[in-house]
Amino acid sequence: MDVSGVLRRMIEESVVKTVIERTDIVRLISEYVQLRKRGGRLIGLCPFHREKTPSFTVNGDKGAYYCFGCHEGGSAVDFLMKLENLSFPEAIERLAERLGIEVVHTERHNDHARQSGKSREKSFYEVMKSAESYFVSALASSEGENCRNYASRRGITPEMIQSFGLGFSPESWDGIVQHLRKSGQSLEHAKELGLIASRESGGYYARFRNRLMFPVHNIKGDIIAFGGRILDKSETAKYINSPESQIYVKGEHLYGLYQAKMHITREHCAILVEGNVDVVMMHGFGFCHTVASMGTALTEKQAALIARHTKRVYLMYDGDNAGRKAMCRALGILLTQDFEGLYAVELPKDDDPDSYLRTYGAEGMQSLIDNAKPLGIWCIQKKCSDLMALVPELRKSGYGELSDIIHEFPDKLSRHHYLEEAARYLGVDTKRLAIELGMNLEYQPQTEVASRVEIEKIQYDQIEWDVVHLVLVSPQRYQNFIEQHGLDLIQNPGLRALLTQYVNVEDKDNTYAVLSSLGEDSRQLYEKLICSCPDVPEENLDKWYHGALAGLVRNWAAREHQQLGYSIAEAVKRSDAEQVSLLLAKDQKLIAMMQETEKERQFCWQTGVS
Ligand code: UTP
Ligand code: MN
Repeated sequence: MDVSGVLRRMIEESVVKTVIERTDIVRLISEYVQLRKRGGRLIGLCPFHREKTPSFTVNGDKGAYYCFGCHEGGSAVDFLMKLENLSFPEAIERLAERLGIEVVHTERHNDHARQSGKSREKSFYEVMKSAESYFVSALASSEGENCRNYASRRGITPEMIQSFGLGFSPESWDGIVQHLRKSGQSLEHAKELGLIASRESGGYYARFRNRLMFPVHNIKGDIIAFGGRILDKSETAKYINSPESQIYVKGEHLYGLYQAKMHITREHCAILVEGNVDVVMMHGFGFCHTVASMGTALTEKQAALIARHTKRVYLMYDGDNAGRKAMCRALGILLTQDFEGLYAVELPKDDDPDSYLRTYGAEGMQSLIDNAKPLGIWCIQKKCSDLMALVPELRKSGYGELSDIIHEFPDKLSRHHYLEEAARYLGVDTKRLAIELGMNLEYQPQTEVASRVEIEKIQYDQIEWDVVHLVLVSPQRYQNFIEQHGLDLIQNPGLRALLTQYVNVEDKDNTYAVLSSLGEDSRQLYEKLICSCPDVPEENLDKWYHGALAGLVRNWAAREHQQLGYSIAEAVKRSDAEQVSLLLAKDQKLIAMMQETEKERQFCWQTGVS
């Protein structure tokens, strides 16, 4: 269904036409992309995918853009819709605003009510904007010296302050009241927004005092709330936040999303942290696709908000116990949305993203992110390792929570997958564990193809995904993959099912033939896979593939090694010396294999990517 067509009728057709005609696409795009003239064309780095050499072109005469890298293209309206995640009428309104054109809606009877609602809302935003400029200039003034020192002690640079509009709320009880009055803002509105409160004796006083101020933006960039952090340790709450209001509902926004959204689109993923300070620091260190849930437990609305911008999320909460618990809880919330990849980035126990960055820098952070685990697996392992720390008799007491985590997954196949992971970790038999957890295990034959939803929900391992992509698009690589018994290295059931069917397709060069011989689920997966190339220069893809394959072999060996560990422990318990030495010898080989493939992986990776 063409949604934009339906919605378009809400704005008068003639307005839509004028807006589209009058919009200068080059000017619009230049606000997001640095365009250069090359030959007769304007080119730049594509904002829709990550690239190092520009393949994004704009044709000002035709009012169109197209990216030769990711094949994203269209008009100025499409550009704005895609980049800012706007609906058609929203995009038109934004363009109209730029041009100073008044948007006329066709449903006239609604117009009046909407208009007055709108102007009220507008006044709220203006009050917030005015408060922000007050806080910003206070930070720059002599009053703000303490706060500036505090920020600089914490490594918050002037650039970070500027890009997040950070400010300072002075000690004064009525400074902001006077400022707002002088700038002609409605004090009643300021009160509704929680910037000021009424005195019993009449008049108003400032609610935020002596705090570092973080403005919270909605997706369009309007300020909808503030968070004020205390400058030092003290008895009072660390943060005072704006209350809910007509323009702000708790749990429906993410701190930093306005600044991060373009980067999230470009990086194809978002990093989710806990604290405002973490967001500011992460951006300052180049991780501009970071947002925070602002203290509340992650909500479904926030998860949906992220899902509008990307299908991949890295969760990086504080390293303490509370943070880890919150990550496990976030799993269930994130699973309510249609994500393709959820990852856990684990920080050391005493760190949050901010402190980690200050100790280890951007490079350290990057390698932490590179080592992220699928979130489901991470949660299971966390829980299991907590259980393993208990004496065996007490472990059962934690089975309830383990079962809760497994049951976050809405489909049987994933639950089975995570049950197996838990059993492996705990060194117990899967069926036994299933009984203990009260799970009904109906074994599904390997050949049975998972349902569409099931495939969507299982988290893909990025390397597996990329390897399968590379194999499917090149007959030579496919040949190599088969010779290397690559199929045995792929763990994801959906990818396995697809490959198993693909092996039997006769005419692999004929996409139509391939598609018609695959089952429904595999076909969809195939379509997605062949369209999603890893971000590596064409000429390096082969090297990169070999590196990735080595990575899969290494992972296989690591799994075998872990399994073997349990068998060795059992043999030791039985005092079966002969078996122990046999298994140890086998383990040596595995370890050697891990080291070798790791070297190969790293070698190929470096040469592949550079
Ligand atoms: P943190 O305590 O991690 O705060 O709470 P922080 O921003 O990282 O600050 P530092 O590192 O201690 O300096 C995470 C988020 O929870 C919300 C804030 O949004 C904060 O950023 N929070 C925290 C509150 O709303 N109120 C509080 O009292 C504490
Ligand atoms: Mn923190």
